[in-house]
Amino acid sequence: MRPHGPHPIAALCLALAAAAPAACSDPSRERALAELGPEDQGGPSPNHRRGQPCLLCHDATGGAKPEMVVAGTVYATPAADADGADDVEVQFVDASGGGPLNNPFTLFPSGNFFVTKSDWPDLTYPFKVRLLKNGQPVAIMTSTVNREGSCNFCHRPNPPEPYTDEDRERARRSYGQIYVGAAPSP
Ligand code: HEC
Ligand code: HEC
Repeated sequence: MRPHGPHPIAALCLALAAAAPAACSDPSRERALAELGPEDQGGPSPNHRRGQPCLLCHDATGGAKPEMVVAGTVYATPAADADGADDVEVQFVDASGGGPLNNPFTLFPSGNFFVTKSDWPDLTYPFKVRLLKNGQPVAIMTSTVNREGSCNFCHRPNPPEPYTDEDRERARRSYGQIYVGAAPSP
């Protein structure tokens, strides 16, 4: 049974709507927000909401600060309860051959990273992305990212076993969480 009182996401919508009226009038955005569940116990921080599509809230429409153009989460392993990856950097190159001002990006302890609008004012889609460890590529996304800045929109966190029907349905639309594999062979 659903608890009474305002749903936490509805409350967030109201809070964000003050800053960005569009945030909660887009039905697909509202549906996606409703799927996310409540805020982390510690509240908003660079480590919060790991695995979630950050830009749903942190793009210009979402209205949460800081405004981001790209963001996601990188895990140490494919396990459902994996920690954030250690000592990994995320490196970009875009269609104009450029990248963010402080490319590559380090991860916060949760594995989250984010690129703000002011970090990458002239982002030109599509961009390519890869993960570095000790300066060496350890995982490369072969295809380009064409318009979706939230890595976790496509790379959903791997659910714990036993899998539900919903998990299986989601897995058909998702590529699975980003993690650090063995270094790709040259
Ligand atoms: C459901 C909405 C939502 C999602 C999804 C979300 N955030 Fe946030 N985030 C917020 C809100 C609300 C704040 C508080 C600041 C504000 O209200 O503008 C915040 C604050 C932050 C801050 C500033 C914290 C501080 O100490 O000032 C960072 C950094 C951040 N989020 C990173 C992320 C990252 C990285 C992701 C994805 C892994 C993410 N957020 C996903 C809503 C969200
Ligand atoms: C539009 C959906 C989409 C978005 C957004 C996306 N990815 Fe991917 N990613 C994929 C797909 C599909 C693959 C597998 C094919 C490939 O490597 O191109 C992949 C592969 C990867 C791989 C290689 C995984 C492996 O097993 O070798 C890495 C690393 C990766 N992505 C990181 C990222 C990061 C970091 C971001 C955000 C900056 C991101 N991806 C955004 C769809 C996406």
